[in-house]
Amino acid sequence: MDYLEIKGGKSLSGEVTISGAKNAALPIIAATILSEKEVTLTNLPNVVDIRTLLKLLTMLGGTVEYHDNVAKINNGSISSTKAVYEIVSKMRASILVLGPLLARFGECDVSLPGGCAIGQRPIDLHLKALEAMGAQIEIKGGYVHANAPEGLKGAKIIFDKITVGGTENIVMAAALAHGTTTIVNAAREPEVVQLCEMISKAGVKIDGIGSDELTIEGTGGKVLEFEETEVIPDRIEAGTYLCAAAITHSTITLNKVNPEHIQTSIDKLESMGCRFDIENDRITIHSPEALKPVNLTTLEYPGFPTDMQAQFMALAVFAKGESIIEERLFENRFMHVSELNRLGADIWLKGNIAAVKGVERLNGADVMATDLRASSALVLAGLVAEGTTNIHRIYHLDRGYDDLEGKLSALGADITRKKEQS
Ligand code: EPZ
Repeated sequence: MDYLEIKGGKSLSGEVTISGAKNAALPIIAATILSEKEVTLTNLPNVVDIRTLLKLLTMLGGTVEYHDNVAKINNGSISSTKAVYEIVSKMRASILVLGPLLARFGECDVSLPGGCAIGQRPIDLHLKALEAMGAQIEIKGGYVHANAPEGLKGAKIIFDKITVGGTENIVMAAALAHGTTTIVNAAREPEVVQLCEMISKAGVKIDGIGSDELTIEGTGGKVLEFEETEVIPDRIEAGTYLCAAAITHSTITLNKVNPEHIQTSIDKLESMGCRFDIENDRITIHSPEALKPVNLTTLEYPGFPTDMQAQFMALAVFAKGESIIEERLFENRFMHVSELNRLGADIWLKGNIAAVKGVERLNGADVMATDLRASSALVLAGLVAEGTTNIHRIYHLDRGYDDLEGKLSALGADITRKKEQS
């Protein structure tokens, strides 16, 4: 296993290119199941989760050619509709094959994704919606067995909670359904928008893209043909690099980024004293010598993203004053708090609220990554902590950040990947 060794105290400078978005690429890859023809996807991030889902497609019988951030996928040869535990347990987003497999083949078995470090993360809303579309769903032996022998039917789906994955699964299921599906209280994340745009370019009529109400006219079982699709920039990776600049009081430029998608992070960083030059897909951040505290509450898009909460907590550790951070989406997304406190932070937790008192300095230490975004917060803290910080279990990081240590080193950070002593 690898760990990261960071020697703190270096300022950053220069430019960094943002990769494609993991959370846009995953549903897009799943959507290729709705086609029997070859599909080309470009600007895929080189991260473990992408490789895991591509592997799942090959296990189902599809063919995949993947290199240099480009995948050529052909699911014409799919021969199995069983997404096995070995894959789904590695990456819960594998559940995104449920909708397209059921819509195309009328039946499938998908391992139930267990809980994860940040919360229980049930899929009840996905299953309820598919049942409303006429599917018979049975949970047995740790698997979801789904059946719709006559094909799925259009239905009115009202999500009583906004769910990104649920919206994506139902958009894909509805694309091949008989009749029209309406999703009320749909997720509006940019990743959901890209999925809808890809499917609508393939000839499926979708109204309300980007809004909280989507109307999808199914093809009645006719499979789709997709155009070549370029994955949108990763707004969470972009936000993480903006925080890296702010925490090291640096000026850096991000390329290949969509400023609109990270407006809430930009607003919060401005309230902490940062200034921005924004031009098309380039953002330059100028950071102050001292950061002001920040109060934030995580919400669904276009609210402040839960996937940026940990990174902003690392920033707040160095602010002049107290910051209040409220996590509303996941019940257990403060695993980074105890690790930041190990470095010398002063963070108090009460339920889903964290009070972060700014401190003068942190001291390097050994810390443990617990989930993807928590690990990026530890990297940010390590960039500033005095001495050496070793971050263990960085397989969490590799799941969603494309060459983080390479990009940070190029910006001037002293960060090295090392092998754990056995
Ligand atoms: C997506 O997860 C992202 N993952 C997450 O990013 C992100 O944190 C999350 O959306 C929220 O923005 C991917 O896109 C692959 P949800 P998802 O369904 O779809 C509850 C990262 O760091 N819920 O919108 O799983 C759920 O428990 C990851 O890249 C139900 O109760 O999130 C949560 O509390 C982490 N029943 C809330 O809704 C359901 O059936 C939002 O979950 C579904 C969800």
